[in-house]
Amino acid sequence: MTNIGVIGGAGYVGLVTGVGLAALGHKVISMDLDQSRIEMLRKGSSAVYEKGLEVILRGLIKKGQISFTENQLQAVRNSDVLFIAVGTPSLDDGAADLSAVIAVAEQLREMIDKYTVIVVKSTVPVGTTRIITEILAQKLTESEDFDVVSNPEFLREGEGLIDFFAPSRIVVGSSSTRALEALRTIYEPLLSGNVVVDVPWIDVDREIPYVETDVISAQLIKYASNAFLAARISFINEIAGISEKVGGTITDIVFGLGLDPRIGSSYLKPGIGFGGPCLDKDLRALIRIADENSYDSVMLAGVLKRNDLQLREVMNKITGTLGPNLYKKRITLLGIAFKEGTNDVRQSLSLRLYRLLRDQGALVVGHDLLAASETAEIEPNLVVTSDMNVALDGANAVVVLNAESAYSSFDWSSLISSEVLPYVIDTRGVVDVTMLSNCGITFDVLGSAE
Ligand code: UDX
Repeated sequence: MTNIGVIGGAGYVGLVTGVGLAALGHKVISMDLDQSRIEMLRKGSSAVYEKGLEVILRGLIKKGQISFTENQLQAVRNSDVLFIAVGTPSLDDGAADLSAVIAVAEQLREMIDKYTVIVVKSTVPVGTTRIITEILAQKLTESEDFDVVSNPEFLREGEGLIDFFAPSRIVVGSSSTRALEALRTIYEPLLSGNVVVDVPWIDVDREIPYVETDVISAQLIKYASNAFLAARISFINEIAGISEKVGGTITDIVFGLGLDPRIGSSYLKPGIGFGGPCLDKDLRALIRIADENSYDSVMLAGVLKRNDLQLREVMNKITGTLGPNLYKKRITLLGIAFKEGTNDVRQSLSLRLYRLLRDQGALVVGHDLLAASETAEIEPNLVVTSDMNVALDGANAVVVLNAESAYSSFDWSSLISSEVLPYVIDTRGVVDVTMLSNCGITFDVLGSAE
């Protein structure tokens, strides 16, 4: 059992990591500056939605495996290993904003009073661990008082528990054998298959690859992974665009493409592009890292450009059918979170589409099963309902943005008696188009000719 502190423990990554480590049998103290989130967490409820998380959290609180505090000193003094999971948002120029990470390092420099392993979970540019080390070394001695480790996260929102308890791999980077040993001990229950989590959808019965490397490579593994996923999405979006022009059917193309085992079928779903807090941010940061090192990353720039163009495709379709004047046109957006299964609206492309439509005078209504209150915080004028009938009432156009099962199973014939039948754009290929046809509803599926 290791005493572990998590700094930034109320954010998505910090929370899933803290809960996961506590479930492995460690004693976790999670610290966050967000007092209201910490108070909620103490009572076993989380502001970030993750399927199954609260049940595990409450069990761990009861057993005394995890506790929550706003007091960083308390977390530091009670821990041998500290995970830093504070945010690193994108700055305007694409670089990662390291101010929170730097502030934590400056505070730790004053607080650490025994050998402590500092584990960087936040995705930070190559070189940041050196900055952290330099800050700590102003008062402490590397190897004697502290070591810094990079242990990137690969948590998909909505599938965070699977990615913690049955990860595709664990990557740990450090030049200190003592620190590497500490991390191995922490993950040992996962590696030896000893951890028991009562979550039926997680297959823990699997050998987990464990990659030990240097700090820089660990960080680049993270950036390369997200850039590669982003590249697959931009690639299929470009193929979808070509397919539409020449009369193909994108679902069949994706199916045929994915059958090649060298390619596989994951991350090949076309849509409005990759949104969310990570792929876009990490891709921009990687391009910036290349730039700063005088390397021309042409391919990564293309991935980003395609993503920026995707919304234009949707706007063109809307104006192509409803006409260039969208003033007072009622447009329904199905799926406001950046993907289905989450309440996270940060960098949601649905919200970007909302702003484009709003700016042209359209009356936009949103539908989302989880993200209504999160949307209200960012866009108070966008009404988001979880009732499909309310959302679709009087709609001139409907844009399906997430692959929610409520959208694939929706009975469009319920709209037949409406005064206006909406024009439907399915950006995810999930709607029953035969039903749309039978109902006389005009539609487009992104990537497929009519
Ligand atoms: C991502 C990475 O997957 C995870 O490993 C990393 O550590 C954090 O960032 P997440 O941001 O939760 O996870 O989202 P993800 O499921 O990867 O989806 C990102 C975006 O790509 C979403 O907008 C999603 O709708 C879109 N997407 C995904 C597609 O458009 N097509 C696909 O085939 C897959």
